[in-house]
Amino acid sequence: MACLPTIMVANEHSEISTAEFAQFQKLIYKIAGISLADTKKVLLVGRLGRRLKSLGLSSFGEYYRLVTSSASPGELQTMVDLLTTNETYFFREEAHFDFLARTVLAKHPANAPFDVWSAASSTGEEIYTISFVLADTLGLDANWSITGSDISTAVLATAERGLYWLERTRGLPQSYLRKYCLKGVRSQAGSFMVAPEIKRHTRFIQVNLNQTLPAMGKFHVIFLRNVMIYFDADTKRQVVARLVEHLRPGGYFIVGHSESLNGLTETLRTVKPTIYQLPE
Ligand SMILES: C[S@@+](CC[C@H](N)C(=O)[O-])C[C@H]1O[C@@H](n2cnc3c(N)ncnc32)[C@H](O)[C@@H]1O
Repeated sequence: MACLPTIMVANEHSEISTAEFAQFQKLIYKIAGISLADTKKVLLVGRLGRRLKSLGLSSFGEYYRLVTSSASPGELQTMVDLLTTNETYFFREEAHFDFLARTVLAKHPANAPFDVWSAASSTGEEIYTISFVLADTLGLDANWSITGSDISTAVLATAERGLYWLERTRGLPQSYLRKYCLKGVRSQAGSFMVAPEIKRHTRFIQVNLNQTLPAMGKFHVIFLRNVMIYFDADTKRQVVARLVEHLRPGGYFIVGHSESLNGLTETLRTVKPTIYQLPE
């Protein structure tokens, strides 16, 4: 089959040359470690095309020059926000939260601090799911914390706000909604806000897993779920090595159900598929 140099989708910013696409592939790999396959051209055109239009630019080449120029440093972040995939939902891969409550917390000494890191937290559903489990198991006044981090500042802002649509609560037990959330009224009808008593245990910071990490402290559990699927083996290995440094001895490292640490680290032992532990 002949190789087409450009692709077309139904909008005016629809053409991207093979060379332009390759430039964006290299750039997002260099910044975020994200490997954008050749088959993702339509996705890239869809996500960046609207941005080109709103900026009044006529080609992806022009947009590439803009994001790589020092004149508009914020635009690079906007590009990262647009090119990252942020799908998430409450109680996604629920077995992990059962494990947290029944195995990890069940043997955690009462009153001892308990710290969790959700290292690609997206819009916050994962952080608040963990919070609800901790609040229910350890109590609202106990000494626990959750750090949520992501490369995308747009999703972090949503996570920090903690405001969600009720129609997007699939998997979230009503009892948690009643105990730990405030129902929106009037202009906020149809939404709910995570209660301040939960939020005070959370903090949000921008962390690029593809770079040297800032001082993060040590954690009892690190969730790194559904982000390694975007990385190649080399990047996965480096990211895992960076994060393992932030696990407490005996701490757990949890990855997504379609992910595995096989061949990526020798430091952690497998507890069960997708759940690993740093030996004491
Ligand atoms: C599909 S979401 C996963 C959200 C959540 N962990 C879950 O499992 O539902 C992947 C997240 O990883 C983030 N991400 C991608 N590359 C990253 C990087 N290099 N550093 C930090 N976060 C990254 C994206 O911005 C996105 O919010």
